[in-house]
Amino acid sequence: MLKSKNALTRWALSIATVSVLLACSETQSTATDVSARWYTPQQLAQGRAIFAENCAACHGANGEGVSNWQTPDSNGFYPAPPVNGTAHAWHHSLAVLLRTINQGGEQLGGRMPGFQGRLTELEQRSAVAAFQDYWPDDIYAQWLVIDNR
Ligand code: HEC
Repeated sequence: MLKSKNALTRWALSIATVSVLLACSETQSTATDVSARWYTPQQLAQGRAIFAENCAACHGANGEGVSNWQTPDSNGFYPAPPVNGTAHAWHHSLAVLLRTINQGGEQLGGRMPGFQGRLTELEQRSAVAAFQDYWPDDIYAQWLVIDNR
């Protein structure tokens, strides 16, 4: 939860900055074979709407994150990383991804808000489907090995 008006303002400003960056970036298209993945086309469709509404402001319309995501800001916080398969998200099992979405990043010293009480577990799963759909098949295959451990 946001603790002060100041924090709210900072949060709003970072969203505004990201929106400007997004407006300048190009959209990309992907063609993955959903039938080979854990989610259904219905979950993917629901997830895309959820991602657009709840995640895209920080993580980008296509999960591309912020270009300087590896550089902390003046407060020591990192910007939203890509979740499109180009960063670290695929190193985490589905359970860990869901925990991050549900509880947010504060426990990791970050500032991603938790979605507990805002999105149901099924909605959170659909959001994962939405960004996993940007992962190329080879990344998805490597993630499957991690997820099955
Ligand atoms: C206010 C900005 C913001 C919003 C909104 C947001 N995130 Fe994040 N997210 C972050 C940041 C920043 C991090 C890096 C960890 C941290 O600082 O908490 C992160 C980390 C993550 C990670 C871990 C990535 C990795 O490489 O380990 C996942 C997965 C993720 N977010 C998914 C989502 C999903 C799905 C949503 C929407 C339901 C969402 N995020 C909404 C900012 C945001």
